[in-house]
Amino acid sequence: MFDFTPDTDLPDTERYRQLADAAVALTDGEDDPVANMANLAALMAEFLPRLNWAGFYRVIGNELVLGPFIGRPACIRIPMGQGVCGTAAASGETQLVADVHAFPGHIACDAASASELVVPVTRDGEVIAVIDLDSPDNNRFGQEDAAGIEKLASAIADRI
Ligand code: SME
Repeated sequence: MFDFTPDTDLPDTERYRQLADAAVALTDGEDDPVANMANLAALMAEFLPRLNWAGFYRVIGNELVLGPFIGRPACIRIPMGQGVCGTAAASGETQLVADVHAFPGHIACDAASASELVVPVTRDGEVIAVIDLDSPDNNRFGQEDAAGIEKLASAIADRI
């Protein structure tokens, strides 16, 4: 059994440090990308409060294809450059969206989602996937969340 359950009242920096450590430990020595993304999605859902969706979209050709996640069933294919995920993948830049309804072209997969954080995962200079977090709370994500997920993305880029 794996027990990576975090303390409930951790400050964000410590929470993200523990999340990255757990992610590296859990994927160590395993080269199956689906298994690793599945466990990483589960870890994010355990470590990060106030989420309704946490998971991966993979860059395949000129679109994003749904990967392992925790949450409600989601859109399967997103064209590069569209929605929050496609914008992050096309630009290679983190998208921090305080109010998804104000983001032009936002793709609604779960009507409960109010704010969103999407971080590109880059390997050898190319975006290979994005990590997508949705929250039912407005303005759920801040710069510490973005920095924490960016560190996680770079820690696991060669394991997915
Ligand atoms: N909202 C995303 C689509 C993916 S779901 O949130 C899981 C977007 O606009 O790209």
